[in-house]
Amino acid sequence: MTSPQARRPIVAANWKMNTGPDDGAKLARAVAAQGLPFARVDVVLCPPATGLAAVAATVRSTPVAVGAQHVYWEASGAYTGEISVPMLAGLATYAIAGHSERRQLFGETDLDVQRKTLAILAGGLTPIVAVGESLDQRDAGQTLDVLRSQVTLVFEALSPDETSASVIAYEPVWAIGTGRNATPEQAQEAIGWIRDTVAEVQGSTAADQVRIQYGGSVSPDNCDELLSRDGIDGALVGGASLDAAAFAAIVRAAAP
Ligand code: 13P
Repeated sequence: MTSPQARRPIVAANWKMNTGPDDGAKLARAVAAQGLPFARVDVVLCPPATGLAAVAATVRSTPVAVGAQHVYWEASGAYTGEISVPMLAGLATYAIAGHSERRQLFGETDLDVQRKTLAILAGGLTPIVAVGESLDQRDAGQTLDVLRSQVTLVFEALSPDETSASVIAYEPVWAIGTGRNATPEQAQEAIGWIRDTVAEVQGSTAADQVRIQYGGSVSPDNCDELLSRDGIDGALVGGASLDAAAFAAIVRAAAP
């Protein structure tokens, strides 16, 4: 068994539909200048597509990595407005798939998320696969079933090695942008269920190695109690990541 300490924490900033090239580069420069513990934690910035080139150029000589918020699974062709994984060459080494905003607002299905994850891996990037239950689902006692179904539909299509190389973000929908974070107990329990599901689908080695973040109203005020928990391998941060100092505090809390 890989000890939890062997999984390198990863903290990713999801800037969502905020910042253009200039203010994105400025924010990236501010993050890179925070004196972060890069030897102990992976740090990823996910700007909107129009900021990828500027942010990538800004952090090129730093340990900060860049991720895309969204990709399409085909490599090229008549898909107006979409961005493929090969088009991210030189710009990003991570890509998010399955964010609840994409699922809820843009109709992405579990099968779409599976296709995107496969395309991200095929292109040599690291997927951050987001899963999470709605408030209605939690209140109805369906959280475990929802997570099991979302995780299984993506990870049954991968190999154990691809699974180990992936990142999963547990983001309960009710905690995103609401200021109401999951309690450390809720996050740890759900992440345990996700890891158990990965073990069922891809075996215990992949389950021990895959990194699972928590996301949903992570802030400098709650990051210590969330990120000190065994099994929570970092955070996917929305609102607080738009402030370099707040994001830096979260990165520091994730460092072992
Ligand atoms: P907030 O941190 O703003 O709740 O957003 C979380 C999120 O959706 C990150 O992907």
